[in-house]
Amino acid sequence: MYSEKVMEHFKCPQNVGSMQEADGVGTVGEPNCGDSLTIYLKIQDGKIKDISFLVFGCTASIATSSMITVLAKGKSLEEAITITEQEVIDCLDGLPEKKQHCSNLGVSALRKAIYNYFEKQGICNSQMGNEFSSKSYFTVKTTRV
Ligand code: FES
Repeated sequence: MYSEKVMEHFKCPQNVGSMQEADGVGTVGEPNCGDSLTIYLKIQDGKIKDISFLVFGCTASIATSSMITVLAKGKSLEEAITITEQEVIDCLDGLPEKKQHCSNLGVSALRKAIYNYFEKQGICNSQMGNEFSSKSYFTVKTTRV
C-alpha cells in the first residue's frame, strides 16, 4: 500500500515536462521493468534554478521522480549530488519493499544530468573537485534491488 504522500505525487506530480535548451539532461532506464526517466536541468551560479522530468513508469517511479525534483530544486550541485534513494523514500513517507528500487531512477537520472552539465561546460572529472569526482556519484547503475 502506498503512503498518502506517494499518492499525492503520483496524482499531481511536480515539475513535469521537457525543457527547451536544458543545461544538463540525464536519462536512465530500469532494465528489469522497462521504466525510464529523463531529468532536465537549468543551472545558474552553481545552483539548480529549474528542473523537470518526463517518466515512463509505475506509480512509485512517478512519485519518486516528482519528489527528487522537489528536493533538488534550488540546491547547489554539490548538495544535489548527495541526495540519496533513502532520502527520496523517506520524504515520501516510505515505499513498499518491492517498489523501493524505483527510487534509483530519480537519483541516477539527476546525477547523470549533473554530469552532462559538466560535460557540456567542458569540465572533466579531474576539474570537478572532490565533491563530485571522488565519490563515484556518477556511476549510474542500480544500487538498490
Ligand atoms: S517498477 Fe520499474 S521503476 Fe518502478
